[in-house]
Amino acid sequence: MSRTTKKRCFPLWIIFILVILVIGLPAVLLYSDIPDLSKYVLDDSKPEPVDEPDNTRAELEEEEPGEDYEREISDPFEDDNQKEVENKITEEGSEDKEELVNDKNDSDHDHESDLKVVSDGDYLLTLVTKETTLKSRYVPSNLQPIPSYMNPSYDMQLREEALWHLKELWDAANEEGVTLSIRSAYRSYATQKRIFENFADQHGEKEANRFSARPGQSEHQLGTTVDFGGSNVDFSAEFGQTDQGRWLAENAHSFGFAMSYPEGKEHITGYVYEPWHYRYIGVDEAVEWKESGLTLKEYLENQPQYFD
Ligand code: DAL
Ligand code: ZN
Repeated sequence: MSRTTKKRCFPLWIIFILVILVIGLPAVLLYSDIPDLSKYVLDDSKPEPVDEPDNTRAELEEEEPGEDYEREISDPFEDDNQKEVENKITEEGSEDKEELVNDKNDSDHDHESDLKVVSDGDYLLTLVTKETTLKSRYVPSNLQPIPSYMNPSYDMQLREEALWHLKELWDAANEEGVTLSIRSAYRSYATQKRIFENFADQHGEKEANRFSARPGQSEHQLGTTVDFGGSNVDFSAEFGQTDQGRWLAENAHSFGFAMSYPEGKEHITGYVYEPWHYRYIGVDEAVEWKESGLTLKEYLENQPQYFD
């Protein structure tokens, strides 16, 4: 009897051990390889997704040029600018010239080799035309963010002195019941390159260049130039007939701003009428410019200029 019981218990003990080994061991091995995901569910320390630049709003605001190219665009690539300012390279030596030459070679316009290279874009009276070029690495000094109460269409910057005078202009317009908005301000060389290439793809280089400057040739790269808006006909010739357009034409020079591309002067300026585009050149100079009756290009051609 006792021998029979002993024979029955022995296999059960073996089976128990085998069950532990067969089921328990793989389970231990499996769970040791699973990463701890609980923190991503329960823990606030889960890494946030990286913010992509949000160009959507600016791109939606993009304006196509009208039949007679009386429109401009807002800046769809302005987000790039801050990064470029942070990476500002102050030394503009031979490396910069090399890059400029490369940029010129990328383009197929034929008088590139005749372009005069501006020595210092920070000089307020610097001539920026189709015959000159700013260096690709030139980034203006003292760029400051345009405050939100001035209704910038997105994050925008202007040089400190220009911004100071823009605030005075803004307050004066406001007191007279004229509501402005800022549609574009500083643009880097890279931003202007992308804008111009975009238009050149759509309209061909020659036509695009009637309303959009090639990189290095935009006054927006100076950090002293503003595109005003605030009407329902922003970036069109009709802007000149709005309250905003009229007020600016009559008063902007008192605050140091000059309209760069007046009506009927494309044969001189190279650009169609842009009643929204104003460049800060200093109060005394802007008053003198206004009294001269000259285009800004002609006025600046009579001022000292510095080229490499
Ligand atoms: N629309 C002016 C010419 C610019 O692109 O700077
Ligand atoms: Zn402009």
